[in-house]
Amino acid sequence: EKDGYPSFMEKEIHDQPEAVAATLLGRSDIDGKLTLDEMRIDADVLKTVNKIIVLACGTSAYAGQVAKYAIEHWCRIPTEVELSHEFRYRDPIVDEKTLIVSLSQSGETMDTLMAVRYAREQGAKTVAICNTNGSTIPRESDAVLYTHAGPEIAVASTKAFLAQITAAYLLGLYLAQLRGNLFQGQIKDILADLAKVPAKIAQVLDNDQQIKDLARSMSDARSVLFLGRHVGFPVAMEGALKLKELAYIHAEGFAAGELKHGPIALIEEGQPVFVVVPSPRGRDSLHAKVVSNIQEVRARGAKTIVIAEEGDESVRAHAEHVFYIPETTTLLAPLLATVPLQIFACELATAKGYDVDQPRNLAKSVTVE
Ligand code: BG6
Repeated sequence: EKDGYPSFMEKEIHDQPEAVAATLLGRSDIDGKLTLDEMRIDADVLKTVNKIIVLACGTSAYAGQVAKYAIEHWCRIPTEVELSHEFRYRDPIVDEKTLIVSLSQSGETMDTLMAVRYAREQGAKTVAICNTNGSTIPRESDAVLYTHAGPEIAVASTKAFLAQITAAYLLGLYLAQLRGNLFQGQIKDILADLAKVPAKIAQVLDNDQQIKDLARSMSDARSVLFLGRHVGFPVAMEGALKLKELAYIHAEGFAAGELKHGPIALIEEGQPVFVVVPSPRGRDSLHAKVVSNIQEVRARGAKTIVIAEEGDESVRAHAEHVFYIPETTTLLAPLLATVPLQIFACELATAKGYDVDQPRNLAKSVTVE
């Protein structure tokens, strides 16, 4: 069942092209018109939604943070992402015009279930993005959008994360279609870019030797930092989380723009810093800003490890190691940039002799609050 891989985690990392492809399958027609079968909320209600709150825990919450950038950009609906267990206890503002989007691989996370129940009681409509058919959260929600990543066995999430981003993007495009925020042709183009992602993930997986070698050489690292900006920020946090969960190494993800407001004080000689660099073709000047962040940490002795888009030569001069991912749009890049970080954590933990499928102290689904 591990398909010849030494661990479920490695198998599931390699399942990712299929997880994304299966999640996209059958949800749009040739003109890019989306049909979400289990979206049992009236179109009229969805048209009046004036706020989206994404609820999730752990890796699923980082998928939510990625999705926020896309949903706000495409739908122009203010979107918050909140950890389920924080949400309920802060007297949140929720009413009939609030759309709750829960993200849960298992569909059984008690914190998320309780948050969804609470929001429903306040009159909100709830959509579950979930990987487990018939589980509790989708059963208790108004609508469901299943990710089709297949069963995820390893405790730390990999393929479910990419499938959650994919599904949340489909939901965002669906709302944009319904509310007229995007032209059908624009939606079609975005779906065409999404359809190319699985083959690009496969390319990253085929070129994993360099990142594995790096991971093996870093098994005595005591702390690793991750920087990213825009959608690269939640990717950085997910990279850090994977390293904590699998390799028990202290790791933190920061927004690159926040560096000079605090975290740069941590940088000393030899500190490894991963930097997720946005595409140089992207809008604004984000690329240049992140490149200058690399220079800033390097000038203070950091060992810089960069994830950048193929063809981006500007980062080479500032990085000890560069890992290239195939070209895609800014919003789709997390589906590629996350993969080397997963491989890094998995390989490093394996080098240390740890059980990557069942890390200490963690459970696959946490059914207590
Ligand atoms: C944690 C798991 O307990 O729950 C994580 O170890 C997971 O991997 C998180 O991301 C949330 O789980 P779910 O099933 O709600 O996505």
